[in-house]
Amino acid sequence: MGEYKLLLEHSHDPEYKTLAGYKKTGGYRALDKALEMERQTIVDSVKTAGLRGRGGAGAPAALKWGGMPKEKKGPHYLICNADEGEPGTFKDKQLLETCPFLLVEGMTIAGYAVQGDAGYVYIRGEYMDGAKALRAAIDEAYAAGLLGKNILGKGFDFDLYIHCGAGSYECGEETALMSSLMGERGMPRLKFPHAPFPVISGVWDKPTLIHNVESYDNVPFIVDRGAEWWSSLGASTKNSRGTKIFSVSGHVNKPGNFEIEFGTPLKDLLELAGGMKGGELKACIPGGSSVPCIRAEAVNEAIIGYEEMGAVKSMVGSGGCMFLNDKTCMVAWAWRTAIFYANESCGKCTPCREGTRWMVQILDRIVNGGGRPGDIQLLQQVASQIDGRSFCPLGDAAAWPVMAAMRVFPEEFEYFVKHGKSMVGVKPVLAYA
Ligand SMILES: Cc1cc2nc3c(=O)[nH]c(=O)nc-3n(C[C@H](O)[C@H](O)[C@H](O)COP(=O)(O)O)c2cc1C
Ligand code: SF4
Repeated sequence: MGEYKLLLEHSHDPEYKTLAGYKKTGGYRALDKALEMERQTIVDSVKTAGLRGRGGAGAPAALKWGGMPKEKKGPHYLICNADEGEPGTFKDKQLLETCPFLLVEGMTIAGYAVQGDAGYVYIRGEYMDGAKALRAAIDEAYAAGLLGKNILGKGFDFDLYIHCGAGSYECGEETALMSSLMGERGMPRLKFPHAPFPVISGVWDKPTLIHNVESYDNVPFIVDRGAEWWSSLGASTKNSRGTKIFSVSGHVNKPGNFEIEFGTPLKDLLELAGGMKGGELKACIPGGSSVPCIRAEAVNEAIIGYEEMGAVKSMVGSGGCMFLNDKTCMVAWAWRTAIFYANESCGKCTPCREGTRWMVQILDRIVNGGGRPGDIQLLQQVASQIDGRSFCPLGDAAAWPVMAAMRVFPEEFEYFVKHGKSMVGVKPVLAYA
């Protein structure tokens, strides 16, 4: 199966960034239609479509939309998570830069459906071009009566703001993002069942709908073309519908973003990216650096779907798919990944703050040729004491890649500790050292 361009269909066209160009392709037809619909009908459409959040966890969007209070006791807010910090993932960057109106329209429709008053797009600080493109789109939408008071003369008011982050991965975690948006330190808050869901009490303690860029970008298509049509995409999978954009990187000839229908074999992504460069395929990290790596053989079996990827013990994640060739040292890969997560740990809870540092110390020792007998067991023990025991999922995200590399490539860890050098004959270095 090849590419299926739905969200990215017009992303190559510079005019698509302008209101006139966007409208030429059918843009804003969905909002026009949505504002004539009952709010609940839109929420039901999102449910019928089977949209799952594209931010990483794949949670059903309708659970959030349906969970927003029907009776309004104060403002309702929407947030778009455009922080995109997961290494290997750069799809939201392209969506923001080339299709900004999809997000503006998608959030406006969602805002209408859940009685939203204002939306905030929290953009990764480094994404200046994306913020600029979105700023221009928001300004044009205001000028055309598509944002602000009495949108399209249909009595609905909705404002949209941009907030630029400052380069913290943890600020992509939804509760940390809300803290950051409110001007507090970007640290996570307690979650359900110890605290209400954001749809009940989110930013400024008000009902808040939070989604990833790609999630909101699908909404105009669901409304315009119908939930049944939209959910026919990916129908060969158990429960994954629509398309998914994968950012493909690593040792491939043509890295980039590729939009595919759920149900596409993972090996087709490699083909779309022009095949392997500099060696044979050895491993793949299908969904961003935190998801477990798999061997080349598993790449040939894997089907892209939230449930389907479980069959090869990995995940769709955020869609940051890295293909690695046979000259890659997986111990070095685990080491570099561990350093990233240790640097990004916010320090609030002990298992993550201390555990990520411990993992780096052990891996530092191993890659510098000083691995001790028992280091592999110690590393396993430390990682498993972070997994499931941290205050927020960053701890799991830090532990999984190390645990998976040790499970999938145990011989490389054993060799490194025993011989003091890499099994694949490369000296691990940090790209930024
Ligand atoms: C450490 C961490 C970083 C995250 N970073 C992002 C991010 O950059 N973008 C994103 O959409 N979701 C990110 N998430 C997931 C969000 O917490 C949240 O689940 C998501 O924004 C919900 O959107 P969705 O329903 O569209 O998936 C992150 C989660 C964690 C634990
Ligand atoms: S797991 Fe703990 S230390 Fe790590 S980022 Fe989350 S709250 Fe902070």
